[in-house]
Amino acid sequence: MKSRKRLYEGKAKILYEGPDSDTLIVHFKDDATAYNAQKKAVIDGKGVLNNRISELIFQRLNDLGLPTHFIKRLNMREQLIHKVEIIPLEVIVRNVAAGSICKMLGLTEGEALPRSIIEFCYKDDKLGDPLISEEHITAFGWASPQELDDIIAMTTRINDFLSGLFSAVGIRLVDFKIEFGRQYDGDMVRVILADEISPDSCRLWDMKTDQKFDKDIFRRDLGDLVEGYSEVARRLGILKEPNGKPKPSKPVLVKSD
Ligand code: TMP
Repeated sequence: MKSRKRLYEGKAKILYEGPDSDTLIVHFKDDATAYNAQKKAVIDGKGVLNNRISELIFQRLNDLGLPTHFIKRLNMREQLIHKVEIIPLEVIVRNVAAGSICKMLGLTEGEALPRSIIEFCYKDDKLGDPLISEEHITAFGWASPQELDDIIAMTTRINDFLSGLFSAVGIRLVDFKIEFGRQYDGDMVRVILADEISPDSCRLWDMKTDQKFDKDIFRRDLGDLVEGYSEVARRLGILKEPNGKPKPSKPVLVKSD
């Protein structure tokens, strides 16, 4: 195989140079981290599942006219994406109380929120990705007021779309984190959805039982993470389970075009 230039290695993904100057290749690793990488493990099959789940979501968003960095899936672990300049924000949407908002405001996990809430964190591992306000974002120039308006509008659409996608398969979208980037095209620049949307970056609970199908399985030692992610993939129609046959011990991915 032709050697490719590795541009960046993060906790769960590697970025390689793409075939053109305005594209990159993202590789989904099996590494899992939590609590700002204080807890680490390698979980066989996680990267393959995240690649497929994120592909399905980003392709559907592209089809809806919501611009994303996703171009196409290349193989089991890799996608071709548009090159962007990442905006240093983690945009978090909460539909139900869980995780850090419970700690911060003394809420009970699973409590309904008065309405869906958008939060911003400044992406900086050394600072522990602190929670910030819109004022910080525009004052420090991390995004312009127009970019922030675009980010909020797209985030609201993404939440509506994802909530519907998951509720149709009996999954409650509790919360999720997304990232945006600037795509440059000559003199033009626009903000598009980047990174990934997968059970690594969402809280996904069974609507009937509240069973967790997301990274909280790893964070809180709740069981088999690949089984949780596979359940999400099965319900979204990505993982096939032959009728009447026993569950395969390893995920079998459905071939797509
Ligand atoms: P939190 O409750 O820990 O703030 O997380 C909210 C949601 O955002 C949850 O679905 C996990 C996701 N998330 C990430 O994907 N990466 C992060 O670095 C953080 C802080 C949250």
